[in-house]
Amino acid sequence: MQQNVFDKLVAWTRANTLLLDAFSALLLTLVCAGTATATGAGAVLVSLLMCVPLALRRVLPEVSGALVAAGGLLQPVLAGEPQTANLAVLVSLYSLAAYAAPWASRGGLLLGLFGAVVAPARYVWPYSGLASALALVLFIAVLVVATWLLGSLRRASRQNERALLERARLLENERENESRLAATAERQRIAREMHDVVAHSLSVIIAQADGGRYAAAANPAAAAEVLGTISATGRQALADMRNLLGVLRQGPGDERAPQPDAGQVADLVEQVRASGLDVELEVVGGERPLPPAIGLAAYRIVQESLTNVLKHAGPGARARVEVRWDPDALRLGVDDDGRGAAAMVAPSPGGQGLVGMAERARLHGGAVTSGPRPGGGFRVRATLPYASPS
Ligand SMILES: Nc1ncnc2c1ncn2[C@@H]1O[C@H](COP(=O)(O)OP(=O)(O)O)[C@@H](O)[C@H]1O
Ligand SMILES: [Mg+2]
Repeated sequence: MQQNVFDKLVAWTRANTLLLDAFSALLLTLVCAGTATATGAGAVLVSLLMCVPLALRRVLPEVSGALVAAGGLLQPVLAGEPQTANLAVLVSLYSLAAYAAPWASRGGLLLGLFGAVVAPARYVWPYSGLASALALVLFIAVLVVATWLLGSLRRASRQNERALLERARLLENERENESRLAATAERQRIAREMHDVVAHSLSVIIAQADGGRYAAAANPAAAAEVLGTISATGRQALADMRNLLGVLRQGPGDERAPQPDAGQVADLVEQVRASGLDVELEVVGGERPLPPAIGLAAYRIVQESLTNVLKHAGPGARARVEVRWDPDALRLGVDDDGRGAAAMVAPSPGGQGLVGMAERARLHGGAVTSGPRPGGGFRVRATLPYASPS
């Protein structure tokens, strides 16, 4: 609470620099000009020149300093003796050191030292001798230097403060950017998962239903099998969706629901085969434990490739899935002998699958290439290094 009042006071004084300076300059002017009346009009003029500009000491420090300096230089001519207003010189020097441009600050110091020599020479030497004059020179010079150093300290702390504020602002910006990026990446991840799960399951279900329509007439037993595949696929898709929604609901950092991995590619091929596509699976090399994210990427890449075969390769196409556990990376290949380039004549707008695959692989330091095969059909090749880049 007290801190609060103090903070408010500080904020108020910051916001009202000119008002405060003008008020203190007015008080000083009244006192100094008042005492100067005893000496004469010249002394009053000098006092006004030295005190009134202090109102601008922080707002326009160079102007204020120049006016005060003019007063000091005119003083030997206009006023016969030192004035109370000479104290204003120290205030002005402090303000120059703290708030003015470096050249003005240094100029102020030089003029102050000049005054430290001239004033005793003019006012003390002729009356009290050289020794007293020299002592006074020393005294004023120390006062001038100390004041200037104080002002410079103030400048340094102000610069420090400004640098800290700037740094805080930059950090805040950076944090904002980072969280925006993270949110975008998360959205893309979810979009990919949604696309892969939904498109794959629906393609399988549609293929099954289409086949089942004809099969049912001739062979009711086959129809029952087809319906079994449809319900199994639907159930699997539902489970996948639940996982995904679970991840969404939990938010980042929470325990994630188990996701499919590379070891389940065989189940996937089995599932696609059940939907009527002729798929062959070849696994080369021994399976290895993979980080879950890479395993999921491998699974989704094969899933999307097979979905594309179902969707685009045309009837009667055959597919071949190859999973190679090479020493450095997991290599995946999905080839088909379907329509290939012919299917791509009118590419469907907004296809997410191939793009998503490439994104998934890139995320783990790998790559995906895809395209029609020279002899007809379509080919997808993916490389997923075991050690994902950090
Ligand atoms: N196995 C394939 N055979 C023929 N064309 C394919 C095959 N896979 C992908 N394509 C072509 O690549 C395009 C992009 O595929 P994709 O990004 O998965 O989008 P979508 O499957 O939603 O159309 C497809 O529209 C199709 O023209
Ligand atoms: Mg697709």
